[in-house]
Amino acid sequence: MLEGNLVRLRAMEPEDLEDALRWVNDREVTLWLTSLRYPMARKDEQKWLDGAPANSFADGVRLAIETKDGKHIGGINLHRTNPEDRKAGLGIMIGEKDHWSNGYGTDAVLTLLKLAFDEMNLHRVWLQVFPDNERAIACYLKCGFREEGRLRQEVFQDGRYYDVIVMGVLKDEFGALQNSEPE
Ligand SMILES: CC(C)(COP(=O)(O)OP(=O)(O)OC[C@H]1O[C@@H](n2cnc3c(N)ncnc32)[C@H](O)[C@@H]1OP(=O)(O)O)[C@@H](O)C(=O)NCCC(=O)NCCS
Repeated sequence: MLEGNLVRLRAMEPEDLEDALRWVNDREVTLWLTSLRYPMARKDEQKWLDGAPANSFADGVRLAIETKDGKHIGGINLHRTNPEDRKAGLGIMIGEKDHWSNGYGTDAVLTLLKLAFDEMNLHRVWLQVFPDNERAIACYLKCGFREEGRLRQEVFQDGRYYDVIVMGVLKDEFGALQNSEPE
């Protein structure tokens, strides 16, 4: 269990299925993600849950996000971990929409970055985000990410192509951010 200020990140459990299934079938949630576009059947979501990594460098990390009073509100992960380059991709989804813009995403990302840099000894964490996902971009900037580039017309969705922004944060940059914050 990883403790943030507002959230806990914990291993995924079989009882997380119902929430996860609801979130991945909510288009208001998935339209912000660059990869989820089809309705998800229970058996496929179950397969996804069953295939959750054991949380290791080799397999990646997939964790549930809970508020401090134990409400399951989303998930966060590190994927495509690479031992030579010491890098990984980060993904996050807060599925409970009434919990958006309350600081939970920022706290979850900061908590996962502590694991990434201080425990897994990663050097760089990257992510992809749609340019109009202003909430997400604001969250990532607060966590030390910088815009690194733009993949032009990377995703076809809703009848048109969308650019995708690549953001990244280096270990030193995260360390500097942590040191600059008041105790
Ligand atoms: C993106 C996401 C993880 C952010 O988590 P969150 O808990 O909602 O965000 P936070 O409250 O920590 O931070 C968001 C910041 O953006 C600000 N914000 C919200 N809407 C905004 C907008 N339209 N324009 C600019 N800033 C905005 C908030 O005010 C907040 O900043 P503040 O704390 O300085 O006030 C979450 O909203 C989510 O999962 N959304 C759906 C799926 C998604 O977009 N995933 C990410 C894909 S890359």
